[in-house]
Amino acid sequence: MPKIAILPGDGIGPEVAEQAVRVIEAINAKHNTGFECPTAPMGGTAYDLHGHPLPPATLALAQECDAVLLGAVGGPQWEAIKREHRPERALLGIRKALNLFANLRPATLFPQLAEASTLKPEVVSGLDIMIVRELTGGIYFGQPRGLETRDGERMGFNTLTYTESEIRRIGHVAFRTALLRDKRVCSVDKANVLEVSELWREIMISVGEEYPEVELSHMYIDNACMQLVRAPKQFDVVVTTNLFGDILSDAASMLTGSIGMLPSASLDQNGKGMYEPVHGSAPDIQGQGIANPLATILSVAMMMRSTFKLPEIAASIENAVAESLESGLRTADIATSQTPCSTSEMGDAVISKL
Ligand code: IPM
Ligand code: MG
Repeated sequence: MPKIAILPGDGIGPEVAEQAVRVIEAINAKHNTGFECPTAPMGGTAYDLHGHPLPPATLALAQECDAVLLGAVGGPQWEAIKREHRPERALLGIRKALNLFANLRPATLFPQLAEASTLKPEVVSGLDIMIVRELTGGIYFGQPRGLETRDGERMGFNTLTYTESEIRRIGHVAFRTALLRDKRVCSVDKANVLEVSELWREIMISVGEEYPEVELSHMYIDNACMQLVRAPKQFDVVVTTNLFGDILSDAASMLTGSIGMLPSASLDQNGKGMYEPVHGSAPDIQGQGIANPLATILSVAMMMRSTFKLPEIAASIENAVAESLESGLRTADIATSQTPCSTSEMGDAVISKL
């Protein structure tokens, strides 16, 4: 039986994960797929229960399952605890332990939501960008790192490193992704300042030679941020480092009007993956039953496509989401004139249209 580890996490994580599990159960009923969904705690919730944000049993479950569905981690009550016990560390730990080096973050706009963006509808309508972010290297993991006192004052330091093979493998993911889309890759770096970026650019060019049908361009990160809000539709696939990708993907998500709509996939070399909404744990609305479950439900669609190779089921979930929006249903984060619906009402709608 295929197994999906469900890690609901903190804040609104459990609320959105619950709806995604209902969708998986509905798929089981309809397609006889037999997905099992064992659950384990992660993040602050796990710290409260077991004294660690990524308990060994949770990591073991994630390792033995075929895919992982994560809600969200973090919250103000865990901000003051020791750095290695903070919920965010669990996220970085699981990415590294499962070798999830390729983070795919689509920024696509459902036509029903063009009005929800802060940018003019004509700038964002039809938007379809895929950000491919390197996820297990760069300054997030480079050594040495730390806080020290030197010459009588405190100093903080981190190290940005990329090896050739790390750049090469994320490059291949970007080019292969582009082959299935508009066949354009924009590699984002800071090669005018950073030696690491010089290498990054050189390797991207070399990988690109293996994909003659894909057009490769390069952009500095500062310009890329500017272009992303000026004329976002110029991008197809964007490939970049861990930190630049973190920043660019948040900016890209807002083009679509709501971060509550965006799914993501973090993949290893073999297609195993962890799938999660791009939004965080939103502690301010936790427990109210008003969170938008669509990003998590769309993450299940990405999982069906990438890990389980079930593109028809993936498409049926995406269509069910589009039809739910078409019927006028909106959670509070995406409502313009509509009366907001609840998290479970949105889940009900998607399931009824599957
Ligand atoms: C993300 C988040 C994480 C990151 C944090 C929570 C560690 O911002 O997934 O984009 O920086 O990668
Ligand atoms: Mg981020």
